Amino acid sequence: MKTCRVAVVGLGRMGSTIDDELRDYPAFTLPFSIAAACQASPHLELAAGADILPEKRDAFAERWGVKALYGDYLEMIEKEQPDLVAICTKGDLHAEMIVAVAGAGVKMIFCEKAIACSLKEADAALDACRKNHVSLNTGVLRRFIPLYAKMKEIIGAGGIGKPTAVVHYAAGTLLHSHIHSIDTAMYLLGDPEAVGVWGELRPRDTAFKDNRLDHDPRAIYHIEFAGGIEAFTVPAGGWEFEVIGAEGTLRSVNNGAGCLMRKAHKQGKRTMMEPAPFPEYEKKSGTVILLEDIATAAEQGRQTLGNIEVTHRATELCFAIAESHRLGRRVSLPVENRDMYVFHV
Ligand SMILES: NC(=O)c1ccc[n+]([C@@H]2O[C@H](COP(=O)([O-])OP(=O)(O)OC[C@H]3O[C@@H](n4cnc5c(N)ncnc54)[C@H](O)[C@@H]3O)[C@@H](O)[C@H]2O)c1
Repeated sequence: MKTCRVAVVGLGRMGSTIDDELRDYPAFTLPFSIAAACQASPHLELAAGADILPEKRDAFAERWGVKALYGDYLEMIEKEQPDLVAICTKGDLHAEMIVAVAGAGVKMIFCEKAIACSLKEADAALDACRKNHVSLNTGVLRRFIPLYAKMKEIIGAGGIGKPTAVVHYAAGTLLHSHIHSIDTAMYLLGDPEAVGVWGELRPRDTAFKDNRLDHDPRAIYHIEFAGGIEAFTVPAGGWEFEVIGAEGTLRSVNNGAGCLMRKAHKQGKRTMMEPAPFPEYEKKSGTVILLEDIATAAEQGRQTLGNIEVTHRATELCFAIAESHRLGRRVSLPVENRDMYVFHV
């Protein structure tokens, strides 16, 4: 693998400092920020950074020893010609930055989640990536974390029989949180197409004004995937995922610090789900895996793990939840209302 020169846009928590908040948290193997992941990987070189705030640029220079710093990210791209641009600004800038970075000729993009505040914006990001042959992953980190890869491997190999449902636990907002829960559910099931969505925003009287919400509301959902597999969210407890199959179950616990497995055993006429050992797996930083996946995918001419098509579908499901709430009924896909806007960070 060739060394990949990475430039970061947005030198805040995800771009630079978030590891300071996550030390001693067993759910995530560090490094977590883009800059820290680049420093940890022999295949990634932290080449440049852009932020509109001078104090963020100064702190980035001091922390990471990077000299190429800019207030304007497009000027940074023109002058530094990075291989990969990591967009780590807040959510309302993601789609327009994907379009601009792809248009500037960059073939590898990391963008924080969620990629858009409307389906119209998500469509524009999808078009720009397709047209410019961009390799992209987004910040839905569980897709890149080895624990979830092991769960997916077990499910794919028939280790819990035919999966019938995925249940996500934890209260969450529509775009900031449920882009994660939906992406993880899709990933565990092998990214099936969805056929129908029911959703409700909380509080229940949340109302759109001019097809727009200026905050990211809490949400619950039920998604039906092709083949009849269902995904639900339960707005309680900490972040966990349970995949229920005909012959067993898997449940990630404590936000992915571990996983409990149960297998079906016949006891007379009844089937009992008994604890079974979850296999060993190597713990590694999801951010390093995610960035290296973009670089190797581009080199090998293959799709990334969380490519633009997949991330566009997960985004469509988030907006389908909002549209279901707005219309007061279940919706099918694709969502017709592509102008609906939901602000999120
Ligand atoms: N994947 C995860 O688990 C995870 C964790 C934390 C944050 N995030 C996401 O990362 C994104 C950033 O969040 P954060 O907490 O790091 O925010 P932050 O506020 O700490 O950092 C954002 C930075 O972007 C800069 N910025 C704003 N406009 C800019 C522009 N036009 N050009 C260059 N820089 C600009 C700001 O000055 C700021 O320094 C959000 O979308 C958030 O949801 C994801």
